[in-house]
Amino acid sequence: MLGIETSCDETAASVVARKPDGSGEIVSSVVLSQTALHAPYGGVVPEIAARSHLAHLDRLVEQAMSEADCSYDDLSGIAATAGPGLIGGVLTGLMTAKALALATGKPFYGINHLEGHALTPGLTEGLRPPYLMLLVSGGHTQLVSVDDVGQYTRLGTTIDDALGEAFDKTAKLLDLGYPGGPAVEAAAAHGNPRRFKFPVPMKGRDDCNFSFSGLKTAVRQAATSIQPLAAADVADICAAFQEAACAAVADRVQRAMVRFEEMHGGLQHRVLVASGGVAANLALRECLDRCCAEARFSLSVPPVDLCTDNAAMIAWAGLENAVRRDPDAFALSARARWPLDADAEPQPFAGVKA
Ligand code: KG4
Ligand code: ZN
Repeated sequence: MLGIETSCDETAASVVARKPDGSGEIVSSVVLSQTALHAPYGGVVPEIAARSHLAHLDRLVEQAMSEADCSYDDLSGIAATAGPGLIGGVLTGLMTAKALALATGKPFYGINHLEGHALTPGLTEGLRPPYLMLLVSGGHTQLVSVDDVGQYTRLGTTIDDALGEAFDKTAKLLDLGYPGGPAVEAAAAHGNPRRFKFPVPMKGRDDCNFSFSGLKTAVRQAATSIQPLAAADVADICAAFQEAACAAVADRVQRAMVRFEEMHGGLQHRVLVASGGVAANLALRECLDRCCAEARFSLSVPPVDLCTDNAAMIAWAGLENAVRRDPDAFALSARARWPLDADAEPQPFAGVKA
């Protein structure tokens, strides 16, 4: 299966095969990150993203096919992200996949990007549902019960900013550059998390939703109260921000673990999967380790290049879809919003994140 991913700021193509024992094998996977293009703006600029996907996708597909040493005849199908995401980018990948499928006569699958993330542990370690997934990236912050392939219950989502976005905005405010997550983590390592007392958003709330806009405001107030900011001040703000953000995630994850157990009582082996770019944050991982130890879950984090956006997860989701349903018609539309759980309540302020 050829997979194509263009929903945000990575242009990616990959060939994934299913081995006779049912497990997946990444035959080739190429990812072109647009980080440098967006860095001057401190965030992803949709028009720049779409134009760059358009400029590079054909070459990347060719590269993925040639690295896999595979011809179009060998493929079982062509899968592309059909949403959710930045619509110009999604359209680029989806139209390319449709054109390739039409020209080669291969089945075409439009894939939900979130399903790609959700099914990655099946590709990387053969993990089968049910399991609980925390997806924390620049665009998404969600807790999902992966009940089965194709069956997802969204337990919580952000009602405003995504966690990666909160890291990026904190970095921007403190002049730490873009993407901000790694810079904030590095600065926090030298900081005193006790000097500032930031709120832990949503703590104790009965649902499993997230909110980071209040924390962002608290960071802004702290930063503007000290001028000029010395390196030690920046480090202390980062440390306090990271601690509050991790505490907020831990509180939400603990609630979701209770909900997951109510839904899937009596499971022998309970797993929390953490994915998305922010899962690279070591303080967050330690925090999740503690949550898992307390609730007797095991923590599984895919390798970082499969936590962040890539096309192998889309190809693998294509393979998983292909055994369960018919291919999509070419009339399938790109969707800026596409909740994985169709029954979940819409979150109007969460952008593409819901
Ligand atoms: O999954 P991802 O690569 O892509 C998109 O969301 O498109 O996630 C990127 C996000 C950015 O917001 C980045 O700042 C954040 O993940 N991130 C981190 C770390 N590494 C990346 N946040 C906190 N700590 C990190 N070490
Ligand atoms: Zn993603």
